[in-house]
Amino acid sequence: MARALFAPSVLGADPLSIGAAVDSLGGNFDWLHVDVMDGHFVPNISFGPGMVKALRKRYPEAFLDVHLMVDDADVLLSDFVEAGASQISVHAEAEPQLLHSRLSRIRGAGLRAGVAIAPPTLVEQLRFVLAIADTVMVMSVTPGFGGQGLIEETLEKTRDLVRLRAVEGYGYRIQMDGGINLENVARVAAAGCDVFVMGSAVFGGPDPAGYLAEARNRVQGCSDPIKLKKEAPVDVRFR
Ligand code: DX5
Ligand code: ZN
Repeated sequence: MARALFAPSVLGADPLSIGAAVDSLGGNFDWLHVDVMDGHFVPNISFGPGMVKALRKRYPEAFLDVHLMVDDADVLLSDFVEAGASQISVHAEAEPQLLHSRLSRIRGAGLRAGVAIAPPTLVEQLRFVLAIADTVMVMSVTPGFGGQGLIEETLEKTRDLVRLRAVEGYGYRIQMDGGINLENVARVAAAGCDVFVMGSAVFGGPDPAGYLAEARNRVQGCSDPIKLKKEAPVDVRFR
C-alpha cells in the first residue's frame, strides 16, 4: 500500500500569517494544498499565482498542490506553472469538453495533473481522463469554502475509484478534500483515500503539527487498495 499523504490546505490558515502557519507544521507535511477560487465557478475568491510563487520561494522543496476552482483554467495554467506549482488539479465540471486537453497541457508542462469532482459529479464522468490523471480529487464538501462538514455519500465515490483503479490498472492517487478531521479521518482512509487535504481542522487549533501527527496515527492500517484489487469483481466498474 502506498503511504498516505497529508496535504494541509493554506486556506485554513489565518490569511495574515500563512507563512507562520506552514512553519508551525515543522515540515511534517507531504503536500501543501493551495485553493484557487475565481468568484464565478465558486462564490468565493482566494489565492492566485502570487501565493504559489511566494510559497515556492519560501519552501523550495515543497510539493505544491494547486486546486483550481475556476471557470477558465486555460488562461491561468501557464502562470501557475511559472509560479512553481508541482501539481495542478482542474475541475471536471468546468468546461468538460476541455478537460482532456487541460490535463494533457499540465502534464506536457512537466507537472502532475489532477482532476477534481464536486459532490454531485459521478466517477463515470471521468472515464475518458482517468488514464492521464495523476490524482483524482473527490471533493467531500461543496467547493468554495473551508470549514464545512464532510458529505458522507462522497466516500462511495472514493470506493468506486479504488475498484476502478484495480480493475483497469490505472495509476492515479485518490485525494479527498473538505471537512476531514480527526473524527472522520480513519473512515476516509478506510474508503481508500490516499491523499488527505485538511484545512480548518489543522490550522484552526492551537497545535497544527500535533493535529497532523495524530491524523497520521489514525490512518495507519486503515486502507488497503491492494487487498481490494484482489477482491474486485471484474464486472463491477462503476456503482
Ligand atoms: C474547499 C477547499 C478545501 C478546503 C478544505 O473549496 O477546496 O481545500 O481548504 O478545508 P477544510 O478542511 O476546512 O474543509
Ligand atoms: Zn481544495
